[in-house]
Amino acid sequence: MGYQDITFSNGTVFLVTGGAGFIGSNLCEVLLDKGYRVICLDDLSNGKHGNISPFMSNPNFTFIKGDIRHLDTCIQACIGVDYVLHQAAWGSVPKSIEMPLLYEEINIKGTLNMMEAARQNGVKKFVYASSSSVYGDEPSLPKKEGKEGNLLSPYALTKRANEEYGKLYTKLYNLDTIGLRYFNVFGKRQDPNGAYAAVIPKFIKQLLNNKRPIIDGDGKQSRDFTYIENVIEANLKACKASHEVSGQAYNIACGSKEYLIDVYYELCKALGKDIMPIFGPVRKGDIKHSNADISKAKELLGYEPDYSFTQGLALTIDWYKENCD
Ligand SMILES: NC(=O)c1ccc[n+]([C@@H]2O[C@H](COP(=O)([O-])OP(=O)(O)OC[C@H]3O[C@@H](n4cnc5c(N)ncnc54)[C@H](O)[C@@H]3O)[C@@H](O)[C@H]2O)c1
Repeated sequence: MGYQDITFSNGTVFLVTGGAGFIGSNLCEVLLDKGYRVICLDDLSNGKHGNISPFMSNPNFTFIKGDIRHLDTCIQACIGVDYVLHQAAWGSVPKSIEMPLLYEEINIKGTLNMMEAARQNGVKKFVYASSSSVYGDEPSLPKKEGKEGNLLSPYALTKRANEEYGKLYTKLYNLDTIGLRYFNVFGKRQDPNGAYAAVIPKFIKQLLNNKRPIIDGDGKQSRDFTYIENVIEANLKACKASHEVSGQAYNIACGSKEYLIDVYYELCKALGKDIMPIFGPVRKGDIKHSNADISKAKELLGYEPDYSFTQGLALTIDWYKENCD
């Protein structure tokens, strides 16, 4: 269970792209705590220097401020690297509908650059962030690998393209790639600000500041909210996975189903707030229900999420109470 017992040999080097972002900075922290060398490549377009500033004095940590759209930068960053944990991308379904060209450049071209750089440098494993959005309009639940529908956004398309390249790079060039289809990750250091912020940190911050959060639609949409520690476990287990399970993508979630409206009232209760939300219009490109079948990751990666949604939520609320302005 979990990742505490997973070890790599001394001097193992990890490259975390997007390491100044939410998921990336949590990965960097755990890897540094375990004593490994970590290179973080991030252009700080969405990530924050504050997320990595506590690591800057660690001799095992190197920060490269660079853009994955530049192949040379990617190649330089991969020198001497054992494992790449590729998180750099632009998130947000609605933003991708506004800016499809930018998403193509960063999420598709940038990821292809990283795969190519990993290949040229003989990296052992290329683990990359995919997304539940690849299921598109597929109505069957829970979502299962191999049963994807029509895509609903440029963001989803970029993630599917990453998976196709991942498959090809394993088949054609023998680069071990593993795609992790994250389902609504939450936890410490997730950005609560801005129009495209994820709901859990956004609602917590608004409630702490006695503001009325806006729920898109009627709140009866459901999600498989996944605590960050489970995502870290998935990344480390993917690094350890055998060559035979490469070239594929895996659902990474909690395996549960939470209705947004229930999550909202749980947050109100935990924060001692009695605030009515505002119900807004349904967001374009949004999926009504999204929960995952995680049996493939369990079977082939040995993924066993340690944290339930409720445990993760309690830890997340505690962190924001201490750290939110
Ligand atoms: N958070 C979630 O719920 C979720 C769900 C599904 C998939 N994902 C995927 O997981 C990954 C990490 O997501 P996150 O929530 O930590 O997002 P984030 O925005 O917090 O982190 C992404 C990081 O990538 C960096 N970045 C963006 N463009 C870059 C570029 N051109 N060059 C170098 N760095 C660049 C940003 O500065 C940022 O620090 C992304 O690939 C995202 O699509 C996240």
